Amino acid sequence: MIQIGILVSVRGSNLEAILSAAQNKFITKGEAAIVLSNKPKALALGIAEKYGVAGMTVDDHGFSKKSWEYDQKVIAELKSHGVTPNNGLIILAGYMRIVSDQFIDEYHNRIMNVHPALLPSFPGLEAQRQALEHGVKIAGCTVHFAEKTVDAGPIILQAQVPVREDDTVESLSSKILREEHRIYPEAVRLFTEEKLRVEGRRVVIAS
Ligand code: GRF
Repeated sequence: MIQIGILVSVRGSNLEAILSAAQNKFITKGEAAIVLSNKPKALALGIAEKYGVAGMTVDDHGFSKKSWEYDQKVIAELKSHGVTPNNGLIILAGYMRIVSDQFIDEYHNRIMNVHPALLPSFPGLEAQRQALEHGVKIAGCTVHFAEKTVDAGPIILQAQVPVREDDTVESLSSKILREEHRIYPEAVRLFTEEKLRVEGRRVVIAS
């Protein structure tokens, strides 16, 4: 059984989509071992509690946005909950920190992220606004393995969302979020069923 650690900061709707998928037996080969927040008041911690999953805060107050010193504290907690580099999967779900290079190396191709754009377009903050301002006709979201460059890394799944003339950042964000909630649990399921193989930049999905 793959042990899953979910890192969160704020709202936790993707966390809920994944925990619900596990509860509904859509994900059966992985179990949520720990939900870890860098912010003490994250709503996501309440979601962990609702699903009976251990939740905790490793407060990042005083640490820079990207810090190996901070990440070592996170890794110690992950390991003590069984989320190891051999048997673990780490899910970044609205985690507002940059994972350090050493963390990426230690859990190579075992850290997933969701980004609200069709990468490699519009990495970084406010991706939905960037897409609208650029005038794209198709927006969407991406689940990918994390690598040392932010919002990069081998792409696992993507979903597209048509942009309407009257879309606002809010309306587009909510349409994209619905797709995130669909493809993130699917990516976790594929990983836990050992159906993902990384070949260079490509992720090959076994049928
Ligand atoms: C999502 O839009 C995700 O793409 C981005 O941060 C947001 C997190 O939302 N990385 P939630 O905390 O999962 O509700």
